[in-house]
Amino acid sequence: MGRKLLLEHINEPGIQSFEVYRQKGGYASVEKALKTMTPDAVMEEVKKSGLRGRGGAGFPAGMKWSFIDKKSDKPRYLVCNADESEPGTFKDRYLMEHIPHILIEGMITSSYALGAKTSFIYIRGEYMYIVRILEKAIDEAYAKGFLGKNILGTDYSLDLYVHPGAGAYICGEETALLESLEGKRGNPRLKPPFPAVAGLYACPTVVNNVETIAAVVPIINQGGEEYAKIGIGKSTGTKLISASGHINKPGVYEIELGLPVEEFIYSEEYCGGIWKGRKLKAVVAGGSSVPILPTDLILKTAKGEPRLMTYESLSDGGFVSGTMLGSGGFIVMDETTNIVKNLYTFSRFYHHESCGQCSPCREGTAWLEKILHRLLHGQGKKKDIDILVDAAKKIEGNTICPLGDAAAWPVASAIRHFRKEFEEEAAGLPAERNLELATH
Ligand SMILES: Cc1cc2nc3c(=O)[nH]c(=O)nc-3n(C[C@H](O)[C@H](O)[C@H](O)COP(=O)(O)O)c2cc1C
Repeated sequence: MGRKLLLEHINEPGIQSFEVYRQKGGYASVEKALKTMTPDAVMEEVKKSGLRGRGGAGFPAGMKWSFIDKKSDKPRYLVCNADESEPGTFKDRYLMEHIPHILIEGMITSSYALGAKTSFIYIRGEYMYIVRILEKAIDEAYAKGFLGKNILGTDYSLDLYVHPGAGAYICGEETALLESLEGKRGNPRLKPPFPAVAGLYACPTVVNNVETIAAVVPIINQGGEEYAKIGIGKSTGTKLISASGHINKPGVYEIELGLPVEEFIYSEEYCGGIWKGRKLKAVVAGGSSVPILPTDLILKTAKGEPRLMTYESLSDGGFVSGTMLGSGGFIVMDETTNIVKNLYTFSRFYHHESCGQCSPCREGTAWLEKILHRLLHGQGKKKDIDILVDAAKKIEGNTICPLGDAAAWPVASAIRHFRKEFEEEAAGLPAERNLELATH
């Protein structure tokens, strides 16, 4: 059994409540940090832990924190990104729904390290029931003296707010999120300046994912060095994986980074193998934005080494034969999956969610959807496949925010690894194989 740092008490009855969470050792990191450590010492532990952002890009959390402009006399903010809209990703929901206090605890300890006096949890609008769970947990934390003025009798004070979005994927991009939090339309900002210098209300701000902030709790409790002993190389600690698709046991799993992908898919402790005794065809390992890999490349790298659940191993081979750990949205596809249809579903999503600010993304995502639609409906031509590749190339790297890349990468990889299926669609598939598409 792999170690559990975030989900250790998930099956404890009543763990949603302050009392039970506290009985299980909850809020110890706040006590330790506020009573025995300076803010810089907390930051140092996070640096030592090697924790990388769990929102998708995997940027080292301690390094991001150290960029916060301490010379500025403006207020500093910590904003938790709980927008979680990446298709295939539902780990933050699971954590917030079942153990809300671990996020509140992480927010307090992290805000202390950053010198923030006001912090926010920006949560996707569809998670309204979790807004209520978090607000209840926050009320309990205020009542017990863990939030508000002079926390635990120290001179540190913090106010924490939950702010629901309105159901836009783009508001998960950190600068669009900040615009939205300020009450404006969620359009991404040009960087620089980065949020650490000019973020919320043009003040120094750190934006971190729910899981990143929750991981600060075990890091402070056990020390950064201990945390760094889990995992391999620069992939330290544990990671929540949202496993979905054609597997026997879909769900959220906490894994130690370094677990072989094959073990994750086939062992009873995790996904329990492919459903209905079918064969594995492909995996999207880190949410819909990352390149899809066929069976041979998801289980083994191009060098023939077992592929591991780490940032480095999954990206081995670059985008030619590798992918990304991303948000940990692990989508498994069996041998019956129509890859073109799957790609169409993703492309439809990106077109719908593009904010429209940059023309390569606004127009490009529309073309991707349109061409895939006609391929699937017997109106495509072989040259459409090259047009798709070309359109994806023209979007990638040419937009203010990475939504454009997120729309382009799945297209390029699906065609690279499954070109034959696109050619079959262009040649006109047997009607029965596409019958189910008639509803689109
Ligand atoms: C279109 C788009 C959507 C995103 N959605 C999310 C999201 O829902 N949650 C998240 O944590 N990060 C999301 N990100 C990444 C954030 O911009 C940011 O990198 C992240 O919140 C940083 O947190 P971390 O360093 O803890 O990973 C998204 C990025 C893009 C481009």
